[in-house]
Amino acid sequence: MTTPRLVRTRSELADALGPARAGRTRAVVMTMGALHEGHLSLVRAARERADEVVVTIFVNPLQFGPAEDLDRYPRDLEGDLALLAGAGADLVFAPDVAQVYPDGDPVVRVSAGALGERLEGAHRPGHFDGVLTVVLKLLHLVRPDVALFGRKDAQQLMAVRRMVADLDVPVEVVGVETVRDDDGVALSSRNAYLDAEQRASARALNRALRAAQAAAGAGAPADEVRRAAADVLASEPGVVVDYVALVDDTATDVAADATGPAVLAVAARVGTTRLIDNVTLTLEGR
Ligand code: PAF
Repeated sequence: MTTPRLVRTRSELADALGPARAGRTRAVVMTMGALHEGHLSLVRAARERADEVVVTIFVNPLQFGPAEDLDRYPRDLEGDLALLAGAGADLVFAPDVAQVYPDGDPVVRVSAGALGERLEGAHRPGHFDGVLTVVLKLLHLVRPDVALFGRKDAQQLMAVRRMVADLDVPVEVVGVETVRDDDGVALSSRNAYLDAEQRASARALNRALRAAQAAAGAGAPADEVRRAAADVLASEPGVVVDYVALVDDTATDVAADATGPAVLAVAARVGTTRLIDNVTLTLEGR
């Protein structure tokens, strides 16, 4: 078990990284802390791909809306470091806001464009612009060969992939499979807010994804695949659906006769907790 080295400032990070060394690869896993098994699976996947693994822990104010409570976001650096010790991280960069935004809020930001306005973006205006701005900054500061993101946040992964492609950012982006509890619920720090009854209701999200997957596997067209998921959620009284969408890699609804890969994404409220989940499936068409 290696305890990762903790650095707090840009200059400490630059010193710890040193000059690029030929043949040595570096991976980054970006987080906002409050780590759980889902994050650790990203770190383990990073460990398998690179010689050096950097984890960033930074609660990015830019991606919080005015109605979202940035100050109440859970912060537990000690606990995070303890978890990372066993997962294979070499270096943890945990800057404060002044380190990341030394001149205050950035005047120039990355725009996720229309991709950032759909699905989660409709619920959280400006969120993906804030995510992409900090992701690009952290890529510049860490200079990784590969950056790993969880598939649980499917739209975030889409946005990062498009930024890297559209702006020629020299990094490989890897999506890592969602980690689920035994009951199928995707790991999320928000699950802690669910009581036992709500937890039982939350299982409907994964059931909805499996129903959509089964429909797609049976050759159903896009609207039937989407409906298969929607029907499962509608039959669970504890779940209030925000959206059930079948989208392409720009988060745009697929056409009725679409074939090929698509993402079935759901967002729903269980009690006061908003949960998201998704699955990638293949539309075969009949
Ligand atoms: O997924 C997250 O935790 C954040 O959106 C990220 C990628 C670390 C950027 O702040």
